[in-house]
Amino acid sequence: MRIPILPTALALACYAHLTCALLTLQTMRNLTVITDECREHIVDGSETLGEVDEMARALMGDQRLLRGGNEDEHGMEVEDSRPWHEGAPNLCLIPDFALRFLLIIRFRQTIAASLHLLCSFLLAELEKPLDLTLEPPEQNCTVTTTQYHAFLYSTANFLLPIQERQMKYRWTSQSAVFENLGWFQALWASRKTNSQDRSFIEQQIELYKEGSCFEKNEVLRRGVEVVEWLNDLIDMFA
Ligand SMILES: *[C@@H]1O[C@H](CO)[C@@H](O)[C@H](O)[C@H]1NC(C)=O
Ligand SMILES: *[C@@H]1O[C@H](CO)[C@@H](O)[C@H](O)[C@H]1NC(C)=O
Repeated sequence: MRIPILPTALALACYAHLTCALLTLQTMRNLTVITDECREHIVDGSETLGEVDEMARALMGDQRLLRGGNEDEHGMEVEDSRPWHEGAPNLCLIPDFALRFLLIIRFRQTIAASLHLLCSFLLAELEKPLDLTLEPPEQNCTVTTTQYHAFLYSTANFLLPIQERQMKYRWTSQSAVFENLGWFQALWASRKTNSQDRSFIEQQIELYKEGSCFEKNEVLRRGVEVVEWLNDLIDMFA
C-alpha cells in the first residue's frame, strides 16, 4: 500500500487522525480577548448594583429624617446597611426592594447573555475547518505558554464573578445562567456539542502537542480543572 508523502509533520499527524486540530494560537488569543470582554459586562453590571446601594442608603437616610420625632429611640432599626434580602420586610423599603429586584434580574440576564456570547464564539471556532496555510506554528515556547496561561487566567476571572453572584442570589436550574453554563461545560468537555467531534479540551491538546512546550498531560489536566469548576458551579443551582 502506497503511503502518501505529505509536506509537514503536522499534516501527517492530521492525516493519521483523519481530522486535525482546528484551533490556532490566534484563536486562543482571540478567545482570551472575548472572555475578558464578557467578564467586563458582568463586572460593570455589579458596579451599577453598587451605585444603587449608595442611592438606596441615601434614600433610607432621608426616610429616617422624615420619620424623626417619636421614632427616635427606635431610629437605629431603620438604619441598616445589611443587604436587602437579609432584613425582615419593611414597608419603607419597598420601592428600593423593587428597584433592586429588577436590577438583579437584569444582572442575571447580563450573565446569561455574556455566557451565551462566549459559547457562540467558542462554538464557531470549534466548527471552523483547519486551514494549515493560515498561520505558521509558534516556535517560541515562552510565548506559547504565556498566552495559554493568560487564556486560563481570563477563564478563571470570568467564572469567579459568576460564582460569587450565584452564591449571593441563588438562581435556580430554571435560569438562563444555568442553561448557558451547561452549554459552556459541554463545549469544553463533550465531543457531541460540535460537528468536528472533538471537545474544546481535545482541540487544545491537539493544538499544543505540536511545540512540546508543556509538561505531559498539563493541557489535559488544566482543562479538566476548568470542567470540574464548572461542574461545581452548576451543582450550586437548586
Ligand atoms: C482574531 O480576531 C481578529 C480581529 O477580530 C480577526 O481578524 C481574526 O480573523 C481572528 N482570528 C481567528 C483565528 O479567529
Ligand atoms: C521567546 O520570546 C521571548 C519573549 O518575546 C523572548 O524574550 C525570547 O528571547 C524568545 N526566545 C527565543 C528562543 O526566540
